[in-house]
Amino acid sequence: MSNPSILILPGDGIGPEVMAEVKKVITWYGAKRDLQFDVSDDLVGGAAYDAHGTPLHDDTMAKAQEVDAVLLGAVGGPKYDALDFSVKPERGLLRLRKEMDLFSNLRPAQCFDALADFSSLKKDVVAGLDIMIVRELTSGIYFGEPRGIIEEGNERVGINTQRYTESEIDRVARSAFELAMRRGKKLCSMEKANVMESGILWREVVTEVAKDYPEVELSHMYADAGAMQLCRWPKQFDVIVTDNLFGDLLSDAAAMLTGSLGMLPSASLGAPMGNGRPKALYEPVHGSAPDIAGQGKANPIACVLSFAMALRYSFDLGEEADRLEKAVEKVLADGVRTADLLGEEGVTPVTTSEMGDAILNALDASL
Ligand code: NAI
Ligand code: MG
Repeated sequence: MSNPSILILPGDGIGPEVMAEVKKVITWYGAKRDLQFDVSDDLVGGAAYDAHGTPLHDDTMAKAQEVDAVLLGAVGGPKYDALDFSVKPERGLLRLRKEMDLFSNLRPAQCFDALADFSSLKKDVVAGLDIMIVRELTSGIYFGEPRGIIEEGNERVGINTQRYTESEIDRVARSAFELAMRRGKKLCSMEKANVMESGILWREVVTEVAKDYPEVELSHMYADAGAMQLCRWPKQFDVIVTDNLFGDLLSDAAAMLTGSLGMLPSASLGAPMGNGRPKALYEPVHGSAPDIAGQGKANPIACVLSFAMALRYSFDLGEEADRLEKAVEKVLADGVRTADLLGEEGVTPVTTSEMGDAILNALDASL
């Protein structure tokens, strides 16, 4: 069987800087764990625009459709702000998500003990937190028709439509149940079935899908109540599944329970390909951070943890993903901090590449 393939798209700003550390990690797995990946590198975002006049070349799009996983850094930056909407760097990322049909967006909120003081919540509320929000990513109110701003009488009306088909709900629910099976076997579905028909259908379809996963304990919650519970006692949850709009808000809120943007990975999954692996794109939640780009200050952990998600969800290497996450945990426990993680006095921050090296050392120590 051929090696699993990875397409790396570092992108703009700190994207290439954090991705350089992931490449070191990939090399480590080849050398020390005999896990060989066929890695190719290409351009996305502003970097692609500079080279080709488009934020995603058709050839790159075609490659992304063929590989087992895409790893993306970040796109965008002030240099490109004045560009026409159609060629803005973000369009490259949107095109990838759309054409790969990545309907299931996995956003973990995980608290590393060493950083529990960083949270705006009390330490005992967040210490040990490990939850996953599954957000539907390709439908719902951001895409529903009709939409627009129309004239009605003597004023304008802004319109967006929340629309979900049964099959759209079914497939994202299944991906959440599959995930729950690999984790704590507990799934909470959030909508507003009290005031939205799309929420009623959501609840019905999720309940139907649950019959195929009798081991998973399913609960339902109104999304506003869910927001409250996430702040009050987030550890009551394991996996949460919700729509595009609620998921956008809830996943951002949940992510911040645990501290810095430089720590947050994500995965976006689509339908299984011929080899059984889902189409997949892994990327840190943060952007290109133009304010610190080129200075060696970026925290590479979000991007490294995104690769850990790839090991787990694309390559079925859960134990190796655990190894990498534990290495990150050890480095943090040892007090290694990039500038964004500084709180304690008297700690000197490490550079992006020193953080990467520290993770490699911790990986070595795990053998
Ligand atoms: P941002 O996430 O790039 O930065 C927000 C703040 O967090 C900045 O102060 C930055 O220095 C800090 N930060 C972010 N990642 C960090 C890391 N790994 N280590 C240390 N500090 C980190 O968001 P912002 O500033 O709103 O957007 C900057 C550019 O990135 C824009 O062009 C925006 O469109 C783009 N962007 C791209 C995204 C993507 O590629 N998925 C997502 C969000 C924004
Ligand atoms: Mg958002």
